[in-house]
Amino acid sequence: MATGDWAGEGDPLHGGAGVFGAAPGQVLIKVEFGTLIWSEPTTDGGRAVMKMYRQRPFYDPARRLLITHRAAREFQVLAHLVRHGIPCSEPLSWSQGRHHLHGRYELLATRQIVDAATLEVLLQQPGAVADLAPLFRLARRMHDSGVSHGAFVPRNILVTFPVHGAPAFHVIDMAYSHIFPRGITGTRMASFDLLELLYGIRRQVAPERCRAWLADYGQGEFETRGLMARLERHRPGRPWRHLRRAETDLRAFIAGL
Ligand SMILES: Nc1ncnc2c1ncn2[C@@H]1O[C@H](COP(=O)(O)OP(=O)(O)O)[C@@H](O)[C@H]1O
Ligand SMILES: [Mg+2]
Repeated sequence: MATGDWAGEGDPLHGGAGVFGAAPGQVLIKVEFGTLIWSEPTTDGGRAVMKMYRQRPFYDPARRLLITHRAAREFQVLAHLVRHGIPCSEPLSWSQGRHHLHGRYELLATRQIVDAATLEVLLQQPGAVADLAPLFRLARRMHDSGVSHGAFVPRNILVTFPVHGAPAFHVIDMAYSHIFPRGITGTRMASFDLLELLYGIRRQVAPERCRAWLADYGQGEFETRGLMARLERHRPGRPWRHLRRAETDLRAFIAGL
């Protein structure tokens, strides 16, 4: 598995002996200022998705005092979900180091979920996934297991279509997640996740359906009404996300004391 020990020179994105492009069979998935994601073959004949964090947001030096490396945390939370039987991207390894082109980095490897599409893309195709009740039930199990996702948006939910049976949902991208010592259902952290999900699906889905799925999650009528009212006012810009994440970081830190 990849570590900080890369040899050679060259453009890491276009061949040569960099991080990406160093081994045959690698496929670039996403390149952004702070993140580089690619897939590559594993020794057991499958494929892994490699996510390399290259930069941290401006407030991350502060976060670092409270929490561990993102890749490590993402690995731990995914392992926790696997132990609880909650469908997600199975973690394979994580590492950190200093690379001559990328500087400090953290790297997470997860098993690739094959033939998956993001819920964000599928929502653009009417009828592709009509029933989100299983996703809300998954969210409930995740919250009962003590996990706050922190970025529970449709692009971080992968959907696969088994030959028999209903579409299956898998959570990915746990970079802002936390494991609390107890279940978080009914807490602010759970409502942050639900609000982000509802906000992400609100254009494609009628409010009545959202209410029905919140009942599948296990929300009572009173809580559902409250959440739907909050959704009306909800404008999740960057400040909102940073603030909520900072609050969750702090609560997780205190809960862990
Ligand atoms: N385990 C996986 N299996 C299949 N595709 C994945 C997996 N992990 C990530 N991806 C793909 O990579 C994209 C970005 O991954 P994500 O973890 O959400 O990173 P980011 O932090 O950049 O949003 C996803 O939308 C998905 O298409
Ligand atoms: Mg993502």
